[in-house]
Amino acid sequence: MNTAHEEDAMEALRRRIVADFETANGRHDDPQIYGGPPGDPGLIGPNSVSWELHADLAAVSQAGLATIVLEILHPSVIAGVQDMSSYRQDPFGRARATLGYVLATTFGNTAAATATIERVKHIHSFVTGVRPDGVGYRALDPELIAWVHTCIPWMIMHTFERTNRPLTEREKDRYLAEQAVIGRMGGAEHVPASVAELNDFVAAMRPKLGVTAQTREFIDFLLTAPFLPTLPAAADRALHVLAVYAGMSYAPRWARELTGFDRPSVMTRSLIGPFLRLNVQTLRWAFDKPAYVDLARQRAAAICEPVAVP
Ligand code: HEM
Repeated sequence: MNTAHEEDAMEALRRRIVADFETANGRHDDPQIYGGPPGDPGLIGPNSVSWELHADLAAVSQAGLATIVLEILHPSVIAGVQDMSSYRQDPFGRARATLGYVLATTFGNTAAATATIERVKHIHSFVTGVRPDGVGYRALDPELIAWVHTCIPWMIMHTFERTNRPLTEREKDRYLAEQAVIGRMGGAEHVPASVAELNDFVAAMRPKLGVTAQTREFIDFLLTAPFLPTLPAAADRALHVLAVYAGMSYAPRWARELTGFDRPSVMTRSLIGPFLRLNVQTLRWAFDKPAYVDLARQRAAAICEPVAVP
């Protein structure tokens, strides 16, 4: 049996893990977003596959790195990011905004989820320019939106299966169809809404993807930006490289080959599995049920008061 001292120490550790995660990734507990009108299911709803998958904060956060790298394999996406993104000044800010988007659009009340999508679309309307190879780009190009959108549920679904439980084909189709609603609201036209459509879409996009000097610059930043500034520099760098290789282990082999993450050193390779397992188990233990899930469930389950008839 645990002593009171042990319980206090475990609770302190749990709080520390939650606080560290939230410093980097945000709190995602705003009642204005996740609470709201009683009975409001939001854009997707409580009995969805999306609510099960996105409630697993460990899987969603572990999917993040592979998602971003896949997205920026499109030369127009990386051009937009290099020209206009604040990722160098505020890498955690960008990660927080993206995680916030994924959670708010799935669990937020209908008005908050819609407003989140509209706000991001507005930001995207200013993201236009010319790539170094002379090709013009705009973030609201429906094909680019479809690509960036698709990488999100694709990698979350894959990470969830690797770290939580296998999904049936029907569940995967339902999940992609649920998330496609958000992709279309974000400005895409055709968004894969089943596994078959996902495979076709990825196959059609692959010839358009590649690694440019701008992609390389982004990947170098990923590998070298300070990770845990409290650690000595050499340990920080080693841990950082391990974290990036570990995150990329969720990406398909062709993407790892394209980006040079297919040949980790023997030591890194042997540490990837334990690193990911420890990370997932720690987060699941620390968060149990994230606040955004509780708030959204309470909102959706609440009964609307009937309007009194005079
Ligand atoms: C459905 C697809 C997309 C999603 C879900 C998405 C998501 C986001 C989010 C959440 C933000 C942050 C907004 C904020 O500051 O609160 C953002 C900003 C931005 N997005 Fe997108 N994005 C998508 C497509 C694209 C595409 C196709 C491009 C480039 C061609 C792009 C380039 C940018 C840039 C440059 C910013 C500016 C802000 C910054 O990083 O500081 N996005 N996007």
